[in-house]
Amino acid sequence: MKIGYGKTHGKIILMGEHAVVYNYPCIALPFFDASVTTTVTEDTTQRLTCDFYDGLFETMPELMSGLKKVVLCVLEALHHEHTNLHITIESTIPIERGMGSSAAVAGSVVKALFNYFEVPLSHEQLLHFIGISETITHGKPSGIDALTTTSTEAVYFIRNQAPQPIVIDMYASLIVADTGEMGKTREAVASIQQKLDQPEVQHHLHSIGQCTTQARQAMENHQPIVLGQLMNEVHHHLDALGVSSASLNQLVNLANHNGALGSKLTGGGRGGCMIALCKPEDEQRIVQALQQQATHVWSMSLKGE
Ligand code: MEV
Repeated sequence: MKIGYGKTHGKIILMGEHAVVYNYPCIALPFFDASVTTTVTEDTTQRLTCDFYDGLFETMPELMSGLKKVVLCVLEALHHEHTNLHITIESTIPIERGMGSSAAVAGSVVKALFNYFEVPLSHEQLLHFIGISETITHGKPSGIDALTTTSTEAVYFIRNQAPQPIVIDMYASLIVADTGEMGKTREAVASIQQKLDQPEVQHHLHSIGQCTTQARQAMENHQPIVLGQLMNEVHHHLDALGVSSASLNQLVNLANHNGALGSKLTGGGRGGCMIALCKPEDEQRIVQALQQQATHVWSMSLKGE
């Protein structure tokens, strides 16, 4: 039987979320512990199956309108609008938690469809199609989620510029903890857009941009303590912009009280995940503390292999 496959992974924004929408830099890394696999097979209808839906493309719920649009656009681009097939999506990326789930799902579906029809797919085309879905899902995507969920390198990214790969090699660990609450990226992005003319909003976005530039230098100079301080600073600005939440702040404080070098929310915020940077010897203690309150905790070494 003919089968098409597509795989993508999660992403973690280390610094620069929200400010990246306004052309400030952002640093993000692929997160391989969570991934999406899509398969495309022959069928007698045009059907899609995932954790919350099993039915025809045309009756996909409003919540999935970004994905529906991208499926239809890809089929049209491939001249297979009327070809029957079954798209099956399996994901371990928690939804709306700042880990790039929507971009990763769209990316894996696009890859699987091109693979099924045996048509080569460039990375530019892939990013273009994910952008169609992300614009509907998130409103004003910078493109960082599409990029990081489909590439294997950490990047320093400025909207509409070529991403610059960065090597992460620090004596440190990065912990990711999920509040268990659905983030609200679209709402959070829109809320900043609405108050963009306020000088303090401009100040916070500008400061996040400066911290991100300094974070890159700290990473290049192998300075986890400096990076941790910058993470705390950025979390403070994101909180002041109104995109944190009580549970995110609670996990950030918990990690810092247990010896993290710095912590912040990651991604769109208003729920979702936070990250904490720590010395490898402190990792277990901080993970255990976070496990008391988070629904899921992951950790990874930032030591380059
Ligand atoms: C979402 O992962 C990151 C945001 O900066 C939005 C975007 O860049 O598209 C909040």
